[in-house]
Amino acid sequence: MKKGIAITLAMTFLVVFGAALSAQSQPRIGVCIYKFADTFMSYVRNQLEVAAVGKAWLSIQDSQYDQPMQNDQVDQFIAEGMKGLAINMVDPSAVSVIIDKAMSRNLPLVLFNREPEASDMARYDKAYYVGAKAQQSGTMEGQIVAQYWKTHPEADRNHDGVLEYVMLIGDPSNTDAKYRTEYSVRAVTAAGIRVLKIAEDTAMWDRPKAQEKMAAWLEAYGRKIEIVFANNDDMALGAIDALKADGYFRKGKYMPVVGVDATPPALDALNQGTLLGTVLNDTVKQGQATFDLVYALSIGRPAYTPIAPMANADGFADPKGHYVWVPYIKVTKDNYREFMKK
Ligand code: GAL
Repeated sequence: MKKGIAITLAMTFLVVFGAALSAQSQPRIGVCIYKFADTFMSYVRNQLEVAAVGKAWLSIQDSQYDQPMQNDQVDQFIAEGMKGLAINMVDPSAVSVIIDKAMSRNLPLVLFNREPEASDMARYDKAYYVGAKAQQSGTMEGQIVAQYWKTHPEADRNHDGVLEYVMLIGDPSNTDAKYRTEYSVRAVTAAGIRVLKIAEDTAMWDRPKAQEKMAAWLEAYGRKIEIVFANNDDMALGAIDALKADGYFRKGKYMPVVGVDATPPALDALNQGTLLGTVLNDTVKQGQATFDLVYALSIGRPAYTPIAPMANADGFADPKGHYVWVPYIKVTKDNYREFMKK
């Protein structure tokens, strides 16, 4: 009996000691998120945490939309002896500072979501980027709108044959915001539809700011507005909040609104019929690919992820490339259920 207890105790000790030892041998990786309060980034962060379980120890910091604060966080990571860095830039144009810091210690640096200039990336052979091609998401938004316009003649409220729209823009310094604004409209005109911009402004990816903006536009332009484009779902939902307050989505009063991200609240809005469509910006794949790269590099292996092939800045597969591009997917009432969490 006593022998049995001794064996059990010895085994427990081995398991605990083994776990502590393996945790110690896991690489420590420093991660910065440009702003924890950003809805989309909160899902990416979650996936990074899930991916790291049993493999690496992550320190994830909130850069609070403050580039100098992020620079300090990176200094701190270096001082703490992190083996790799995964950074979601506050200001992608400030990436050189971060590259210099990583370079000074020969540390792998995986940038994600906020795309830096290719010329900056080219300065450091241990710099990688994981993201999605913003042009593609804009094009898909535009295609959803074009399809709707062509099959719903009543959408042209004033029967002038011109699609009159408003555009809610994300952070204007961000490539995603720039290209989604441009390519969404481009896809509509490419479908042979004439367009007129009634108003556009930034709402910084933010739901309450978009609600305010949309309420002001409804006040100023009312039913002249025929379509609402938003660079992301949080802003599309903010516009829907303002539209609801103005009596829309009741008794046949409707406004087509499109966004990007396919966040769970946006999928609910699709289900309720308030959001016309969105584009899946894949948080699981982007978080996973970011972790896979920084993990592989931090233990001295080549950059690899099963999520998507290594590619160049233009999106072409290239085994020596330093980019991973996760594809977007169009989401409408025909397929949104596939993306709802079971
Ligand atoms: C975009 C996303 C936005 C916002 C932004 C932050 O890709 O669609 O919702 O999270 O990134 O950079």
